[in-house]
Amino acid sequence: MKKNLVVVGYGGMGGWHTQHALKSDVVSLAGIYDIDPKKSALARERGIFAYDSLEDVLNDEKVDLITVAIPNDSHIDVVVKALKAGKNVICEKPVAMNSCELDEMIKAAEESGRVFSVHQNRRFDVDFLAMKQIKESGELGSIINIESRIHGSRGIPSDWRGEKEHGGGMLLDWGVHLIDQLLQIFDEKIEKIFCTFDHITNQEVDDGFKLTIYFEGGKSAYVEVGTYNFIAMPRFYMRAEKGSAIITDWREKCKVAKCTHWHESEVLPVQTAAGLTKTMAPRDSVTMDEYELERPASDVHDYYRNFCLAIDGKATQLVTHPQMRRVMRVMEACFESDRLGQAINFDD
Ligand SMILES: NC(=O)c1ccc[n+]([C@@H]2O[C@H](COP(=O)([O-])OP(=O)(O)OC[C@H]3O[C@@H](n4cnc5c(N)ncnc54)[C@H](O)[C@@H]3O)[C@@H](O)[C@H]2O)c1
Repeated sequence: MKKNLVVVGYGGMGGWHTQHALKSDVVSLAGIYDIDPKKSALARERGIFAYDSLEDVLNDEKVDLITVAIPNDSHIDVVVKALKAGKNVICEKPVAMNSCELDEMIKAAEESGRVFSVHQNRRFDVDFLAMKQIKESGELGSIINIESRIHGSRGIPSDWRGEKEHGGGMLLDWGVHLIDQLLQIFDEKIEKIFCTFDHITNQEVDDGFKLTIYFEGGKSAYVEVGTYNFIAMPRFYMRAEKGSAIITDWREKCKVAKCTHWHESEVLPVQTAAGLTKTMAPRDSVTMDEYELERPASDVHDYYRNFCLAIDGKATQLVTHPQMRRVMRVMEACFESDRLGQAINFDD
C-alpha cells in the first residue's frame, strides 16, 4: 500500500516533491503545509490539499511520511517535531546547520523508532553514476584522484541562500551533494581537508569554494563550485592507475582513455609556442583504448521506493545516519579550514 506523504514547504523543491509524488508508485500525496498562506492558496488552486498548520499535519493519523523542504535553518524544528509525533521523515539537504543539530535529529529518530534520512537525490545523477561505475568495474584499476566541478555564472540566488543565518552559501547548497557523491566512490579514510571560499558576489556567505579531501594512501578528491564562471570546466575528471576519464558536461557521455601499453616504441616531440616537448606529447592510439561509456540507468523514484521499504523494515535506508554525520563533519572542517587558512586533520 502507498504511504501517505505530506510535503512541508511548497517552494521550489517542495513543488518538485509534490510533482514527483503525483507520479510515484510508492507514495500518495496527502497534502502540503507552508507557513506562507499565499503558497497554501497556490497549492489549493492546483488541486492539492493544504493543511492550515504543522500541528494539523502532525495530528493527522493517516500521514506516514513527511518531507521537509524549507530553508536550512528551519529543518531542525520541523524534523524533530515530526519524528516526536511518530512520523517518518525525509529532510532536504543539507539536513542540518551543524553536527549538533543533526545529533538531535538522529536521537529523536532513534527514540521514536521512525525512519529519518536526507534527500541526497544527486546519488541518481548519471554523471556521478558513470564515475562510480568505473570504480566498481575496476576497468581503470585503482582511482587516484577525482575532480568534481559545478560552474555557473549568475552568482547565488538572491533569496535566503545569500544569508548566513538561514544556512546560505554554496558549500551547504551544492557542496553537500558533491561531497556525498565522492564519499560514495572513495572507500579510504579521510586524513585531511583543505578548503577556501569565494566571495565574489556575496560577502556574507560563500558563493563558491575549492575543496580538497585527502584520503589515506595518497588518494584525493577535489570539489569546486563556482558561480562566477563564464566558461565552465568539465563536470568530472578522473585519474586512475590505468587511464583517465572525463565528463565535459552533465548532458555528455563519459569519455574513457585506457592505457593498454605503458611503454611506447617511439615518442614524437611536439612543438609548443616557444619550445619542444616529448614528456607532454599526446600518446599515439596504439597504446590507448579510447571509448565512451553508455549512460548508466537511473531512476530517482528509487529514492522514495527505498525509503518506503525502509519504513516497512524491508531495506536499509539509502542514506544512512553515519553517512549523514560524515558529510556534515566534512563541511564543518571546510568552514574551519577556510577560517584558519590551513588544512584540517580529519578524525574519520
Ligand atoms: N535536493 C535538491 O536537489 C534540492 C534543490 C533545491 C533545494 N533543496 C533544498 O530544499 C530546501 C528548500 O529549498 P527551496 O529552494 O525549495 O526554497 P524556497 O525558498 O523556494 O521554498 C521554501 C518554502 O518553505 C516555506 N517555509 C519556510 N519556513 C517554513 C516553515 N517553518 N514551515 C513551513 N513552510 C516554511 C516558505 O514559505 C517557502 O515556500 C532547502 O533545504 C534546500 O537546500 C534541495
